[in-house]
Amino acid sequence: MKAKPKLLNSARRRLTLKRNHGGWRQEVERVLITEEQLARRIKIMAREIERDFRGRETVVVSLLSGTVMFLADLIRHLNLPLRLDFIGVSSYGSGTESGELVFTKELRIDVRNRDVLLVDDILDTGKTLSRVLPKIRALKPRRIRTCVLLDKAARRVEKIQADYVGFEIPDYFVVGYGLDYAERYRNLPFVGVLHPHIYNITGQ
Ligand code: IMP
Ligand code: MG
Repeated sequence: MKAKPKLLNSARRRLTLKRNHGGWRQEVERVLITEEQLARRIKIMAREIERDFRGRETVVVSLLSGTVMFLADLIRHLNLPLRLDFIGVSSYGSGTESGELVFTKELRIDVRNRDVLLVDDILDTGKTLSRVLPKIRALKPRRIRTCVLLDKAARRVEKIQADYVGFEIPDYFVVGYGLDYAERYRNLPFVGVLHPHIYNITGQ
């Protein structure tokens, strides 16, 4: 089940921005998904994943670094014995476009014959997951399921879908809750729409 974020009324939106990270509030145009909405949805996702992975040797493989907050919240609600590992990927694109993908950290845990839950922050063009999935498949896991917090289906270039999706969002460049622009904004506790003037100045 996918949930669409409800837009907040403007008073509540201003309050949320005012409370959090004063220095960045002019740079975030609006809150798209609140802390409360994130928490509620992630608990539901955890229940779905638990049902599908119960009784399996589970390895959660998370992509660095955008998944940090989502992953921490998701796995604390997963009532499953699991192991955790990370794959480091960096996209050397410019501005808000993904570019060439470089692997900065490889898997350490053996996933052969295990069930893998691959976690990413956002499924955008699909290039990242399309590069990462064959790498994991080559290690012969029993099966792989993909889980993303956000899905920007309108931007898809590769033919790929995630098995678990937190929220489908329109084609906005979003930051916060782990997601960055030029490594900034990751610590915002909500998902917000970055004001386009930020990447029009600093990006290309
Ligand atoms: P894809 O390879 O185009 O699917 O993009 C996946 C990666 O691009 C994500 O893991 C993010 O790191 C980054 N990305 C895509 N869209 C956004 C966004 O709106 N905000 C921040 N990062 C994004
Ligand atoms: Mg990123």
